[in-house]
Amino acid sequence: MTRPTVWIPRRLSDATLDRAQRDYDCIINWEDGLSTADDIVAMSAQVDAIIPCHSEHFPADVASRLDPRLKIIANHSVGVDHCDLPTLKARGIAVTNTPDVLSDATAEIAMLLMLGAARRAVEGDRLVRSGNWDVWSPSFMVGKQVTGARLGIIGMGRVGRAFATKAHGFGMEIHYFNRTRLTPELEQGATYHATVESLIEVADFLSLHCPVTAETKGLMNADRFAMLPDGAVMVNTARGALVDEAALVGALDSGKLSGAGLDCFVTEPGGNPAFAKFDNVFMLPHIGSATVATRDAMGFRALDNLDAFFRNDIPNDLL
Ligand code: DGY
Repeated sequence: MTRPTVWIPRRLSDATLDRAQRDYDCIINWEDGLSTADDIVAMSAQVDAIIPCHSEHFPADVASRLDPRLKIIANHSVGVDHCDLPTLKARGIAVTNTPDVLSDATAEIAMLLMLGAARRAVEGDRLVRSGNWDVWSPSFMVGKQVTGARLGIIGMGRVGRAFATKAHGFGMEIHYFNRTRLTPELEQGATYHATVESLIEVADFLSLHCPVTAETKGLMNADRFAMLPDGAVMVNTARGALVDEAALVGALDSGKLSGAGLDCFVTEPGGNPAFAKFDNVFMLPHIGSATVATRDAMGFRALDNLDAFFRNDIPNDLL
């Protein structure tokens, strides 16, 4: 039986690439550059499967032009907002993702961003690094305490729950909004809010963990920023499109927010230069899942899905 051919458009972990080449005929983009829509359409005629990251986009106009040879898109990501699922389904192309395995790594980054924004990490690091630290006083670089504060989580899926567990260890009071209320076992004492607004009103710290969909795009807009307690901190490790970035700039300018921690932006790569003037915004370049262990686990999960598909089993993570 001939081996399926797989296109791997980004430089995945060595362990992932070793296993992929052991089991499949692979076309690997060793240079790791981004592919255009035309590259993706052209490659689809040469392969049976693609293992893309969230950086390869399959909107309706690309999905509808994919070659019938392509049978599966086994994403190396949990988020699938870069894929037009209805169009891909209509074309008979299977789509999978990699849930679970990146929850802890992403929750770690949410914690880093929350603490960094609350305790003025950008400002402090710059001061020491520049050699300009020439004073200390009890009123110097006073930040916002996390311990004992209320944390509001929007989206209590796997990453939201992993973050709640870690935040619990910091003595935070956890509140959440989710489309459906969790079982008491999964809730672990967190307070459920039936609306986003009711959650936002109590969130000293607010962390976004929901996927971006037509309903959640621009979820954090000017009206909702205005509902936060004064001096709140917002953290986003999910997707940039959840936030109206102009409204976020407004909330920072007015002092409504005392800080923000951002790993995701509407425009990636690149981010939003409008945030650069704020010392109280701690930013990272979309590295929530960027640990060695997690990147291996994501690659292996994508390959598990491919293996199941080509064995004619239903992949675990079929969407
Ligand atoms: C994901 O898996 O969705 C992360 O954002 C990294 O791609």
